[in-house]
Amino acid sequence: MTKIAVVVGSIRAESLNNLLAKNLERLAPEGTEFDYVDIASLPLFSQDLEGEFPTEAQALKDKVEAADAILFVTPEYNHSMTGVQKNAIDWGSRPWGSNSWGGKPTGIVGATISPNGTKFAQAALASIIEWFKSPLYTDETVTLTVTDETFDNDGKLQADVEADAKRYINGFVAWIKDAPTHTGA
Ligand SMILES: Cc1cc2nc3c(=O)[nH]c(=O)nc-3n(C[C@H](O)[C@H](O)[C@H](O)COP(=O)(O)O)c2cc1C
Repeated sequence: MTKIAVVVGSIRAESLNNLLAKNLERLAPEGTEFDYVDIASLPLFSQDLEGEFPTEAQALKDKVEAADAILFVTPEYNHSMTGVQKNAIDWGSRPWGSNSWGGKPTGIVGATISPNGTKFAQAALASIIEWFKSPLYTDETVTLTVTDETFDNDGKLQADVEADAKRYINGFVAWIKDAPTHTGA
């Protein structure tokens, strides 16, 4: 069993990134489990709250630490990631010296309606992952520009995009098994 902690960086009800995550889950090889991280119920990060570490933030840390790998499914806001996603990353990185993300094999995919396909958001995330000293999967990419045809009425990806998504998730899961381990930041 390969357990992946999945962070969808949008809390919007009709999120395209949530749809993308569900397709990747469907297309993943047998024996893969997607464990979705709840980022919506986290308080806004403040060092003032760290003394009595919030249960929602501890739950996030526990989920990430129990996973074999992390997959960020990111929208792009103003050429970066969303605030809610960064808030979740900051909580998971605390308290200082116990960064739950650090060293975990990590993948990044993303969907947007604009032609650049989340490349700026993915680059911003990659920079954080480098700081965390986590191995990042780069053999395949999913930088999805969503049009009216991308998903069908059931939320299923159209065939050619589905093939890319399937290649990504299969490559990612195979890579997780061989990914270099690191003590992390
Ligand atoms: C505040 C805001 C800023 C945005 N900035 C960008 C951007 O810089 N680049 C981009 O590709 N899309 C941008 N978008 C479009 C989002 O990527 C698009 O709305 C996407 O569907 C959001 O992801 P979601 O469907 O998972 O919620 C922006 C949207 C919002 C609300």
